[in-house]
Amino acid sequence: MEQYMREYKGKNVLITGGAGCIGSNLTKALIKAETGKVIVLDDLSAAEKWNVPVDPSVLFVEGSVVDDEVLKRVFAIKLDYVFHLAAHFANQNSVDNPETDLEVNGLGTLRVLEYANLTKVKRFVFASSGCSVYGSQAPLPLKEDFVSLHLDTPYQITKLLGELYCNFYQNYYGLPVAIARYFNVYGPGEIPGAYRNVIPNFMYWALHQMPLPITGTGEETRDFTFVEDIVDGTLRCGVVPEAVGQAFNLASETETKVVDIASMVNELTGNLGGVKFLARRDWDKITKRRASIQKAHKVLGYQPKTKMKDGINKVYNWIVENREKIEACAKF
Ligand SMILES: NC(=O)c1ccc[n+]([C@@H]2O[C@H](COP(=O)([O-])OP(=O)(O)OC[C@H]3O[C@@H](n4cnc5c(N)ncnc54)[C@H](O)[C@@H]3O)[C@@H](O)[C@H]2O)c1
Repeated sequence: MEQYMREYKGKNVLITGGAGCIGSNLTKALIKAETGKVIVLDDLSAAEKWNVPVDPSVLFVEGSVVDDEVLKRVFAIKLDYVFHLAAHFANQNSVDNPETDLEVNGLGTLRVLEYANLTKVKRFVFASSGCSVYGSQAPLPLKEDFVSLHLDTPYQITKLLGELYCNFYQNYYGLPVAIARYFNVYGPGEIPGAYRNVIPNFMYWALHQMPLPITGTGEETRDFTFVEDIVDGTLRCGVVPEAVGQAFNLASETETKVVDIASMVNELTGNLGGVKFLARRDWDKITKRRASIQKAHKVLGYQPKTKMKDGINKVYNWIVENREKIEACAKF
């Protein structure tokens, strides 16, 4: 175990959105670190209870980050660290449901910050999005000091709003906050579905021997980052003293074309369905994405380790192992 992980031993940690893809992997990592309690708060609006790791240290609370009663109950436990991952996810979902997006990502974030501040937690880590706050026009590689006001979806707006609330609590109340800007996270624990990311969805369609739908030309690139690397960076944000008051890109610093992902998935699954090209979604203006991770490397010691091929294999194995449960709950 890396030295920084020892900080978590015996500590109580809250993970909002802990039943989701990143949250469930974060929970697993914290179990290994022998924390006190890991409280997973999730309303299961976009996750399944079976995805929450089972361990005597894990306490699952089903409820919403917007619900004051639930937050009172959760924060009655003396918490050391808060990882705020709960969110209405993501772009298309926010275009379809902008008010829910604002309620969860705006008001929900404000409420969790308020309780974290009142109970004086040691660190509040906010899950932001590098594909949101930089807009579509920023020069590559994306660096932390550039933030755009010209965003394309309500989700992108409320992810930036969450950061602004974090900055307020840090600057006004002195709440120790760190912001993690994730880039295109993929990994075990993400159940395919209408509003989910491209990799689990490609995998799902490929396992049904269907053509993989590509919205655009397929030449679009993203900085896909494996969830275990994201978890490592997030946990560093929680304990590295110099992280306080800072935002960090957590990415792989590698551009991968969507069409190449499709080929990898079709090859791995033996899918002969190929691909089909669909019109680009109106809000999707980002053609290329690559982050600079220099700051996270220098300040946090963050260094992603997972190669795309290995990460995709792990997603495949997880989907195959959980196929029955996934088939029963995947919503398209
Ligand atoms: N996955 C990515 O590529 C990516 C990229 C950038 C940022 N992020 C951010 O990281 C965080 C985690 O993302 P993820 O990929 O694990 O998504 P996810 O949808 O799997 O996890 C979010 C979790 O929040 C829960 N949730 C939703 N509304 C809630 C509410 N009102 N109260 C309590 N729980 C609620 C959902 O049920 C889900 O389990 C999110 O904040 C997301 O915006 C993710």
